[in-house]
Amino acid sequence: MSEITELITTSDAATSLSDDDLLRRYAWPAGDGVRIRLNFVSSLDGAVTVGGVSGPLGGEADHRVFDLLRRRAHVVLLGAGTARDEGYGAMRVDDASAAWREAHGLSRHPAFALVSGRADLDPGSDVFVSAPTRPIVFTLASADADRRAALAEVAEVVVVGETEIDMTRLVAALRARSLCDVLCEGGPHLASALFDADAVTELCLSLDALVVGGDGPRLTHGVAEFSRRFRLCDALRSDDLLLLRYRRARD
Ligand SMILES: NC(=O)c1ccc[n+]([C@@H]2O[C@H](COP(=O)([O-])OP(=O)(O)OC[C@H]3O[C@@H](n4cnc5c(N)ncnc54)[C@H](OP(=O)(O)O)[C@@H]3O)[C@@H](O)[C@H]2O)c1
Repeated sequence: MSEITELITTSDAATSLSDDDLLRRYAWPAGDGVRIRLNFVSSLDGAVTVGGVSGPLGGEADHRVFDLLRRRAHVVLLGAGTARDEGYGAMRVDDASAAWREAHGLSRHPAFALVSGRADLDPGSDVFVSAPTRPIVFTLASADADRRAALAEVAEVVVVGETEIDMTRLVAALRARSLCDVLCEGGPHLASALFDADAVTELCLSLDALVVGGDGPRLTHGVAEFSRRFRLCDALRSDDLLLLRYRRARD
């Protein structure tokens, strides 16, 4: 018979976790090479957007973990769609996070790497103009040459495929820059390509106790079916929100 255990105790004895406790739990095991942590928030019915953005999902506890995950990252990796839809600005962490990073031998702010097959990002946006360090744009040889050239003025433009992003090349490019601890903040197209290439090491999934209907995307979107099994390695709660962490099962 398969074992079923209680995840949430019914006693009031659960200890409230400090930021330091959480940072310890989200530490990567010792090791080298690129590891990609994908962070998403989802509704109970699997939607990752409400009204086209993720903001209405997750609440305070999810935002707290979102910020703490950035503290640990060498680089934040993001799909261009999410940068456009969510109005991303420059990759900057707050002063407390920057101080924590410096004390732990990291750069003051994580690097920022964006994936845009068409090189369709505004070089005049805050992502580039106010960036503490020159962002990286991963793109394709097939992208418009003028757009690539305009982005090359404000970013390091790295071609990682002819007509499709080659995740092996993208990962090698990150490793060559010693950007090994990768936090991918979405979105669904990029996540799908990473799962498809079997490049996701860890999935942090916040499950909000909300059913939203509609036809918002799931965290995978626009790819053929595949199967990647993960192991549950942590489960935390904040009221009705579950903070789940899964590691890719390799055996
Ligand atoms: N709930 C959450 O945790 C969460 C997290 C992130 C995003 N979201 C939501 O997801 C929505 C955006 O979805 P999305 O699927 O459009 O996001 P996305 O993956 O960030 O963006 C897709 C775009 O990024 C580029 N891209 C990503 N992967 C690529 C690949 N493998 N090859 C080539 N180009 C690639 C392409 O840009 P170009 O068109 O420039 O070529 C593509 O059109 C937003 O509404 C956002 O709010 C939710």
